[in-house]
Amino acid sequence: MEFAESKSEARRLIARARADGKTVGFVPTMGALHRGHTSLIEASSSEHGYTVVSIFVNPTQFGPNEDLDRYPRDLKRDLETAEGAGASLVFAPSVEEMYPAGFTTFVEVSALGDVLCGASRPGHFRGVTTVVAKLLNIVRPDVLYLGRKDAQQAIILSRMVRDLDLGVKVRVMPTVRGPDGVALSSRNGYLSAEQRACASRLFESLSKAGHLFEAGERDVSRLVSAARAVLDGEREIAVEYLEVRDAESLSELSRVEDRALLALAVRIGDTRLIDNIILDPGTGSFEA
Ligand code: PAF
Repeated sequence: MEFAESKSEARRLIARARADGKTVGFVPTMGALHRGHTSLIEASSSEHGYTVVSIFVNPTQFGPNEDLDRYPRDLKRDLETAEGAGASLVFAPSVEEMYPAGFTTFVEVSALGDVLCGASRPGHFRGVTTVVAKLLNIVRPDVLYLGRKDAQQAIILSRMVRDLDLGVKVRVMPTVRGPDGVALSSRNGYLSAEQRACASRLFESLSKAGHLFEAGERDVSRLVSAARAVLDGEREIAVEYLEVRDAESLSELSRVEDRALLALAVRIGDTRLIDNIILDPGTGSFEA
């Protein structure tokens, strides 16, 4: 596996792989790699001769009171994990490499970034779209791999790629969960054993609404109430939002007629967790 810290070295290595006739898959990450990430790396390496994984804890997507400083960082372990999953190149730039002095240009996908997580994390998605636009310009992959756990991020990045004609395919891969249903996340490491037990209620809550949907319920307020009832009994869980929205436009819905996103964000102690399922009236079932 190759390694680059500078944009020029990453570009050189990727150009060489292209010259060898390889197609390029790209998995952007902030490190602390887990099975959610490795599922993306494995998917990419099964489809491309060259898989690039970026590891960059992007400061522009963290708010002033968020966990930028305590975000887990362990490059040595991440390099082993990425290599084990089939990465060809890890690109791990410094903050100065990505945001040199005088940096002042941002990419914003308006409206989609103001709801759900964007409502409580102002500027978060502007940071995500800016860094991913930069990474796509450096890597120029054929396919960008994203996880469905961050559903709003995937919707916004797909829209950015479409609106800016970036010419990359976006593949959104299923959420990977632990045996207790908890969606894998780099932030799960912040949870105590009791908090982790509480976190399993999130997927229980989404599944409750999902099963109701499978039984034919299409009324959004009834689906939301069913999911909320599971969380309302938990004193440790503070719900930030629990909403059903259109899975592409993120517009509010009163009934599920097209693919819809049932998404939630909660706080358990100091830790903010998100999760979601897709409600698909086409199949009559939900995707976890
Ligand atoms: O999902 C993440 O880890 C980040 O938001 C991303 C896409 C790597 C951008 O920093």
